Amino acid sequence: MMDVVGLRQRLEGHGQGHLMAFWDTLTKPQQKQLYQDLNELNLEEVCGFYQRTVHSLNEEHTKLDERMQPIPANMHGSVTRTPLEKITNYEEAGLREVSEGGVGVLLLAGGQGTRLGVDYPKGMYNVKLPSDKTLYQLQAERLLRLQKLAKDKFGKCGDIPWYIMTSEHTKEPTIDFFARNHYFGLEKENLVVFEQGMLPCFTFDGKIILEGPSKIARAPDGNGGLYRALRVSHGGFGVRGEVRRRTCWRTWSGGASGTSMCTVVDNILVKMADPIFVGYCLSKGADCGAKVVEKAFPTEAVGVVCKVDGIHQVVEYSEITLKTAQKRNPDGRLTFSAGNICNHYFTTEFLKKVVFDYETSMSHHVAKKKIPTVTAEGKTVKPDKPNGIKMEKFVFDVFQFSNTLAVWEVIREDEFAPLKNGDGAEKDTPTTCRHALFSLHQRYLLNAGGTLLDSEGEPLPLIPSPAAAPKCPTSENANMEFNNNYDRKELRWDECPVVVEISPLVSYAGEGLDKLVGNKKFTCPLAINEPARKIEV
Ligand code: UD1
Repeated sequence: MMDVVGLRQRLEGHGQGHLMAFWDTLTKPQQKQLYQDLNELNLEEVCGFYQRTVHSLNEEHTKLDERMQPIPANMHGSVTRTPLEKITNYEEAGLREVSEGGVGVLLLAGGQGTRLGVDYPKGMYNVKLPSDKTLYQLQAERLLRLQKLAKDKFGKCGDIPWYIMTSEHTKEPTIDFFARNHYFGLEKENLVVFEQGMLPCFTFDGKIILEGPSKIARAPDGNGGLYRALRVSHGGFGVRGEVRRRTCWRTWSGGASGTSMCTVVDNILVKMADPIFVGYCLSKGADCGAKVVEKAFPTEAVGVVCKVDGIHQVVEYSEITLKTAQKRNPDGRLTFSAGNICNHYFTTEFLKKVVFDYETSMSHHVAKKKIPTVTAEGKTVKPDKPNGIKMEKFVFDVFQFSNTLAVWEVIREDEFAPLKNGDGAEKDTPTTCRHALFSLHQRYLLNAGGTLLDSEGEPLPLIPSPAAAPKCPTSENANMEFNNNYDRKELRWDECPVVVEISPLVSYAGEGLDKLVGNKKFTCPLAINEPARKIEV
């Protein structure tokens, strides 16, 4: 039985009576749907979120310059400034942790992929590598290879549980995709797909937006929705019971050691559960870690990991002045150089505290958006300028709760090539991702003693990766020195003759290739691959 009068009263009590404006014109099934949606809405909570966040919309944002400090040098390691021997030690420690079942992966895959323009989960995207592997397949195979490396080294097989956070629209297709592809060789019980929350979108004056006569406008609650979803998904039980056999997640409720690596779905080069990063964070006794790349130039639009008033935070370029963005250390490097690539490390202890104690105190960020809205005639229209807000939590906002945050700086062209836009855009496209992977794999091949030849039988030079060359706005002459470093005109990656793809099942990060390619000559396209499997999208 629908208590329409009661619902109307509750809505009016929160200033949301307009949500029933079309009630009398709706069909019975539409009324049922709207009633259910509105009834499930925790009005107290969502209107509270709006109140808490909206004042920041109108606030005059003061720049953070005076209050910022860089991460102290002893907690800011870098792959390029660390002796190889130490890196090997980190890697061993990370592999040991994997072999003991102490590492899990949290994948943030709840984004809407609007810029890429696909209506299926981004992880199912195929950037057209010779193997036709999707992002999910590459990630699954990296995990498989890592498990094997850990087992070969320590004789123990510690599987890596993989938790994929989706949105309500992408959960079923994701589960389906993995099932159809036999989990790409992973154990089925090691994969847990769960759903992040959605929040209603609001007008600037606090009214929940109706997208259609019987539908409220809703959007995912941001990648920081991870922590709440870990607690409340699966019918309110969270995901803790899902992977019972695994150490790190057994201890989720028990309270011992274990680590989680949290990363984005759309970085084609992502080193899943990177053992070097795990080992580095373990060596620092960190409760939380951030993998970063060095900012390419002062005004590059990436957030930097730093401290504000002594508290760890990611600060966006828009939050500081140019002077601070350009500030240098005596060695010439940018003072605020730790560019966030959204790849994090948490101890299980820390994650538990966030999920069960701190999450509710994290604020939402407000994004002004063009949100489809219903007209008085009941038609849905897409506005041409922002008409409302979406509220999102950010995954890195938990840095504020960390006592010991370690930053690990990696080489951009080895580890970071995001897929954000469709082809034709200036950056972060399927084409740039493809070439970033070819370039990395060409380097693996050369390092292992192989040679690539062109069609004339001449050795092919190393082709710089698009990931190595973020574009610096040309108007900023002050920064041209950075630009010029990357300006290798004679070898444009987008005319690149190099096509090299090495299956993650063969090598995780270039290891073990010398036996296969050492002192050998190859021509492109080159695929060092296991037999192809049928992929279904
Ligand atoms: C993110 C980082 C930014 C970093 C950049 C590197 C955040 C808030 N920003 O920005 O500091 O420089 O990555 O690429 O982390 N996602 C969800 N649910 C959501 C929204 C997003 O799971 O509600 C996932 C996406 O699927 C994606 C990841 O979070 O895997 C990043 O999301 P996106 O919104 O694309 O953030 P960026 O703008 O890339």
